[in-house]
Amino acid sequence: MRRERISLLAHADHPIAAPLDDDSVRRLLERGVPRDGARVLDLGCGGGEWLLRALAGHPGLRAEGVDISADSLERAREAARVRGVEERLVLHHGDAGDLAASHAFDLVLSVGATHAFGGLLATLAAARAHLAPGGRILVGDGFWAREPSSEAVEMLGDLSDLPTTVDRVVADGWTPVHGHISSRRELDDYEWAWTGSLASWALDHPDDPGSAQALTTASAHRDGWLRVYRDVLGFVCLVLRPTSG
Ligand SMILES: C[S@@+](CC[C@H](N)C(=O)[O-])C[C@H]1O[C@@H](n2cnc3c(N)ncnc32)[C@H](O)[C@@H]1O
Repeated sequence: MRRERISLLAHADHPIAAPLDDDSVRRLLERGVPRDGARVLDLGCGGGEWLLRALAGHPGLRAEGVDISADSLERAREAARVRGVEERLVLHHGDAGDLAASHAFDLVLSVGATHAFGGLLATLAAARAHLAPGGRILVGDGFWAREPSSEAVEMLGDLSDLPTTVDRVVADGWTPVHGHISSRRELDDYEWAWTGSLASWALDHPDDPGSAQALTTASAHRDGWLRVYRDVLGFVCLVLRPTSG
């Protein structure tokens, strides 16, 4: 089974592909969207859930998203049709680093997709290139809440602790104007949703050729989460404004 299909099944009950509950997403969008007529761009938009919620909450807002996954973009398109916002949403299929947009954006989002750019600061540099004067960035990334094991670093990459993460962002020329640190409940809910949705699908479709693989993947993911990173991984979202200029 392709990784994209695994991801779609795993996010069936948690359409935001990051450890945030609905209220946290709403509050971050409230702080990130500067006005109703804003243009919003999501780099690594996945199923487009952040954009769909921003569009639903602001009738004058226009949104664009880019993702490398054609399946996720198709899901975003379908969801936009169902919610009646497709006229105001443009989706680009491709590498987010290659996006050549024809205008600048008042809010550039990138949540859980810093790997697409090679890290947090590289993501901010890419987002900055699309930012309109007075605009904001909403970025979400992992951090080490405790000293990680070498196995955790191997699994999740080279992260920093939270103060160091914020220091690096500030030193890069950004001022945090809002933020959200995922609670233990949000982190756990996300992992249970990911593993539980995938496992449930496998149990409901025993005759599907991908069923056994889906169950094995859900089990391996749950094991890695519980044994390797549950106690050390945190997740932070920051709403940022350029400190000058
Ligand atoms: C964890 S998901 C986050 C999706 C979305 N931002 C959200 O919070 O719901 C990461 C997304 O980044 C996308 N992605 C990974 N590498 C990419 C790249 N080079 N260009 C564009 N998208 C990429 C994946 O396809 C996936 O949809």
